[in-house]
Formats: sequence, structure tokens, C-alpha cells
Amino acid sequence: MRKPEKHILVIFGASGDLTYRKLVPSVFDLYYQNLLPEAFGVLGLGRTDLGHAAFREKMKEGIEKYAMTKPKSEEQLELFLEKLYYYAFNTKEEAEYAGFKGELESLNEKLQTGHNFIYYLATPPSMYPVIPAHLAKYDLHLSDQGFKRLIVEKPFGYDLESAQQLNHQLLESFREDQIYRIDHYLGKETVQNLLVTRFSNGIFEPLWNRNFVHHVEITSSEDIGVGSRGGYYEGSGALRDMVQNHLLLLASLVAMEPPAVIGADSMRNEIVKVLQSLRPIKEEEVEKYVIRGQYTASEIKGKKMPAYREEPGVAPKSRTETFVAMKFFIDNWRWAGVPFYIRTGKSLPTRVTEIVIHFKTTPHHLFAHDKNIMNRHNQLVIRIQPDEGVLLKFGMKVPGAGFNVQDVNMDFHYSELNNTYLPSAYERLLLDCMLGDATLYSRGDAVEAAWKFVDPILKAWKNRPCIKVHGYPAGTWGPEESDALVDDVKTWRYPCKNLAGDGEYCEL
Ligand code: BG6
Repeated sequence: MRKPEKHILVIFGASGDLTYRKLVPSVFDLYYQNLLPEAFGVLGLGRTDLGHAAFREKMKEGIEKYAMTKPKSEEQLELFLEKLYYYAFNTKEEAEYAGFKGELESLNEKLQTGHNFIYYLATPPSMYPVIPAHLAKYDLHLSDQGFKRLIVEKPFGYDLESAQQLNHQLLESFREDQIYRIDHYLGKETVQNLLVTRFSNGIFEPLWNRNFVHHVEITSSEDIGVGSRGGYYEGSGALRDMVQNHLLLLASLVAMEPPAVIGADSMRNEIVKVLQSLRPIKEEEVEKYVIRGQYTASEIKGKKMPAYREEPGVAPKSRTETFVAMKFFIDNWRWAGVPFYIRTGKSLPTRVTEIVIHFKTTPHHLFAHDKNIMNRHNQLVIRIQPDEGVLLKFGMKVPGAGFNVQDVNMDFHYSELNNTYLPSAYERLLLDCMLGDATLYSRGDAVEAAWKFVDPILKAWKNRPCIKVHGYPAGTWGPEESDALVDDVKTWRYPCKNLAGDGEYCEL
């Protein structure tokens, strides 16, 4: 595999959780697989007064807990830790960037990294416009001597206006091709496999349109509540936290046209076209198409589950949604009239993300005496996580007299692949940025198009408090009202932890 050019990965917010749990462990995984260049270093930045040694000690713990690969030996880990450096300064203060610049240049000199720098913003979002502007003041954005890339974490804006403003602010100092907006869902192996399933197989693509697809269903459920993230979640809610980014991205990958090539421009052109074709849900239609819910206290297997309003950092009368179910349409040639249903929530029965393509039934029902046959859709289930795999459900004759039909499964599980290493999302995305490949990163226009779709829903919820926030007991599949959304297609699929276990081995 091609190795990235020499460089320094500069992490703003290096004393935070993301660096500890995801970023440095993923860089270690790359190191373990020999995918890092010889000349390489990580420079952690933050206000916390850590020295190199204390930073390395903390990161060692993070690697041991969260890296996908376990260090082969203490020496291997130590050799990696020597590549980590830390510099404490107040990243809000423009004047302090002079000291930081000196530090970065001397590290560049020491490691001979050719002035190639990647800046990772693992900070609170309020710093996203500030840091790039300060970097630019000190010419640290210029790519005349080595590349300069900027990785921005979500949330990318709070609504359409703030997302547009943020894009505008970033573009004042960095060019679009230097900006890498991360959505970790695109880093997931199984999400990328959606493209391969669609575009490398002759059998699916001819059916992948309004003529054969009855509806598309996407679920991303979590069995845990917000836990200690109440403070952040209160200002976000499920629509901003999951739908605006991850779920609309999954829908775009399902719906997009085949790109001309797998490259940043082609891929992202197709994604943005889908997002621009989403039929807007007008403020006055929100109640009809979108259901919001919030988990209430319950008891599961004798264990008390707290209500969202009892979680730390959450207001006692909070109306923040922890569940969203939605029906929408994509107004284009391929998808005209095909409903898309998406659903996400915290404190649901199990942790599952999956996409289900429900195909239309046969035009003439030969076996109509089977009482279930009228409702039977062939289903293709693309399981993102867990029990990653693909499942095709189709009808088979029950052996014996008559023509009774029963659904059977044809399934593939990643776990059946021997000796196959599934890289983590952050590992894949970091490597891509190091290689200068933005294919799996979001482009500014796509982020704005997704906000444009979500914005009227946010406005309706804000301006019309009469739109209900439905309660649902923690550990259930969300408010009953979300069932009414799928009336036309009878029911949601209720996925289990096991891809093919359908109802038999459900984790409750
Ligand atoms: C994050 C959200 O973007 O995605 C979290 O902020 C959510 O609230 C997480 O839990 C889900 O990611 P994954 O990879 O566990 O499905």
C-alpha cells in the first residue's frame, strides 16, 4: 500500500477525549501496520499544561485501551510514543501562535518533515473559525512549502446559517481542497462496502430504482442513553447529532448515481446531487413527516433505566429529542415516488445500524393462498454494525404438499472472512487525509445541502411548541406514533443484534 508523505499531525484539543480514545490509538494502528512515513510526528496542543512525557503516558493508556491492534512489545509501543510531542498554549490567543509556530518549525527541522502539516481540530466547535484564522495570520496555511491540510470534526454548524457562515470563515484562510470535514460513518468499512455492493455487482444495480424498489428503510439505534454527554446533547438532539450528517449520508450513498470514477470530485458531486434532490419538508408539514421522541424512565431485567431528563447536564423540562423517525422523498428520475424512512434514537432495545432495500412484490400473486404473501417484499439488508454483513431475504417453497412460501435468508457476515483486519473509521480517514485523498470526507456544499433539508424541521420544532415530543420508555423502539409514519408499508423492520437472527435471538 502507498505510504503517505512525511508530515506532522498537529492536534488541537489534544488533552481531550477524542484524541485519547480515537485519534492517537488510530495513528498507532497505522504505525503498527507500517503505514506511516519514516519522518513523522504528532504534535498535541492544548491549554492543559502537559509536558511530552505526561502526554505520552496518557496516550499510552489510550492506545492500550482503544487501539484495534495490541502493541507487539513494550519496545514497539515506546518507539511509537517517541513520535508524540506536546505543546501547551492558549489557542484562542492570536499572539500565542508565534510561540507555537516556533515550536512547529523546530519539530519540522528535527523530524525533517518538509513543512507538511495536517491540522486536526479536535476542539469545541466554537474554536473552528478561530484557529484557522490565527494559523493564517502566521502563514501556517500556505502550501508553497509543503502541504497544509485542515481536518474539522462535527458538528459542522448548528443550523443552515451557522454552517454557511463556518464554511465562509474557513474559506477565508484555507482552500476547499485543503479542508477535510470528517463524518466518521464514511470511514466505516461496511459503509464503503455499500458502494461496492451497488457498483461492482451486475445483479443489484438494474433493480436499484423506482421500478423495483418499494421503499428504503434506514435504522441507526443505540441501546445506551446520553450518559455523561447530556451537556452537549441538550444543545444538539438526535436530528443534529445523527440525521443531518450520518443518516443523510447513508441515504445519499444508497441513492446516488454511479460516479464516473472513485475520486473526491466524482463521488462528492453525486452525493451532493442527492442531497439537493431531497424534497423539502415544509414547516407546516413537519408533524406529518417527522416524529420526535424522548426516553422516559423504565426498568429492564430488574435494572432501572433513567429518563433522559434525569441524566446529568439535562434540564428537568428538556424538550430535546433523543429519537427521530422520518419519511421523505428524493425528487429525481431514479427515486420518484419511493419513500425513504429513517429512524435513530438513544436508549432503544439494541445497537444496530442497517439499511434495508425493500423490493416490490411480484406483479401477479401466484401463491396468493399463502396469507402472508401479499405483504412479502424481498429485502436486501446491508448491516453497517454490529454483525457486519449483507442479508438477502426471499421466498422459498415449504417442502411438501401445496405451494406454501416461506422467507429464507442468504447471508454474508464479515466475521466469516479469515484473517481480515477491519480498520477503524478514524484509522481509514486519517490515512486518507495523510494521502491527500478527500473522497471519504464531506464537501462544503454537501454539508450545506443537508442543513438546508433539516433546517425547516428545526424551525418548526422551535416555533411550534405544539408539535409533540413523544415519550417512550427507555429500551423500547421509540414512540408508538412512529408506527403511523410507516402505515403505507405496514411496519418497520425490528432488527436484532444478529443480522440473520430475525426475531429469534433478539437482544432485549
Ligand atoms: C456520533 C454522535 O457522531 O455518532 C453520537 O455524536 C453517536 O451521539 C455516535 O453515539 C454513533 O456512532 P457509531 O459509530 O457508534 O454508530
